Amino acid sequence: MIPNLHLADKVVVVTGASRGIGRSIAQVFAAAGATIHGIARSVENLETLQRSIIENGGNCFTHACDVSDLENLQSVMGEILSESKVVDILINNAGIYATAAVRNMELSQW
Ligand SMILES: NC(=O)c1ccc[n+]([C@@H]2O[C@H](COP(=O)([O-])OP(=O)(O)OC[C@H]3O[C@@H](n4cnc5c(N)ncnc54)[C@H](OP(=O)(O)O)[C@@H]3O)[C@@H](O)[C@H]2O)c1
Repeated sequence: MIPNLHLADKVVVVTGASRGIGRSIAQVFAAAGATIHGIARSVENLETLQRSIIENGGNCFTHACDVSDLENLQSVMGEILSESKVVDILINNAGIYATAAVRNMELSQW
């Protein structure tokens, strides 16, 4: 819990939410009142995250998706927008460490 972090009515998409930093961000933002849409490939880990957030009184949707697959990602974003209408915050956390500056990256690197 972070004092003074108030995210009631905010919709937050967290990629890489199934473990590590993304999972922790999802849990902290859910505790601050946000509706979480967690994205990752592992359905089992996403379900564990969803259960833990809901057991603590939060709101969480999960979406199994490989974010490197543009078609898969676009379809999941469609699902998210049909469930929540807007996305207020994107935590673009899934991925691997790339050495290029974001503005210089090709779509395939992103
Ligand atoms: N930890 C560090 O010290 C550190 C330092 C610098 C930068 N970072 C960056 O911070 C981010 C998170 O780090 P972390 O340590 O928490 O990593 P992590 O424990 O390996 O977790 C990575 C997360 O991303 C998901 N993921 C990976 N590839 C994916 C894909 N193609 N599609 C969808 N989800 C995918 C994984 O879930 P699934 O396997 O279920 O898909 C998992 O939830 C990474 O981008 C990493 O490069 C970390």
